[in-house]
Amino acid sequence: MKKIPEGLVEDQILKNLIDFNNELGTGTTRRVYGVKGSQDFVIKQSHRPFHYSNFVEWTVWHAVDKMAEDILGNEANLQLLELFARTAAISHSAEFLIMERLQPLKDPDRLQLGGFPDWLNDRKPSAFGLTGDGRVKVMDYAMVNFYQVLNPLNRSGRF
Ligand SMILES: Nc1ncnc2c1ncn2[C@@H]1O[C@H](COP(=O)(O)OP(=O)(O)O)[C@@H](O)[C@H]1O
Ligand SMILES: [Mg+2]
Repeated sequence: MKKIPEGLVEDQILKNLIDFNNELGTGTTRRVYGVKGSQDFVIKQSHRPFHYSNFVEWTVWHAVDKMAEDILGNEANLQLLELFARTAAISHSAEFLIMERLQPLKDPDRLQLGGFPDWLNDRKPSAFGLTGDGRVKVMDYAMVNFYQVLNPLNRSGRF
């Protein structure tokens, strides 16, 4: 199995890994492809002039990952880590993002989003998928309600 790049990498490195014969889906801002030599990841290619969605997912993933760490003076919060598909690398321009691959939901009509934060604005079943062991994770988390996240008066205390 191929080694998957991690962190901030040149656009061409991620572009070269795309299996263009294996398009998995398309959304309002991105096309999503399989990765050459790996079944476990996808690459999201932004088709908008400003690659906002990839940038937001990269930023959100790192916040979620960081809050799960046990850092002195901070309470580790592991609640969100298991609910978000991991991102491994983003390209310099943010046109390309590499993310953990999920499988389509078996029963999209019965999706329950109770455990997911309410600042996720895209709550369509197509934004969610299944891990290999059958857990539901969000895979399109680019639509964050920043008004809600940033206003301290909106804190529910849960997240
Ligand atoms: N991590 C993933 N694993 C498998 N399929 C994915 C993944 N991310 C996206 N897809 C597929 O690609 C489609 C478009 O991706 P999405 O993230 O929703 O892009 P957009 O931000 O443009 O809406 C999704 O509806 C889904 O079918
Ligand atoms: Mg989408």
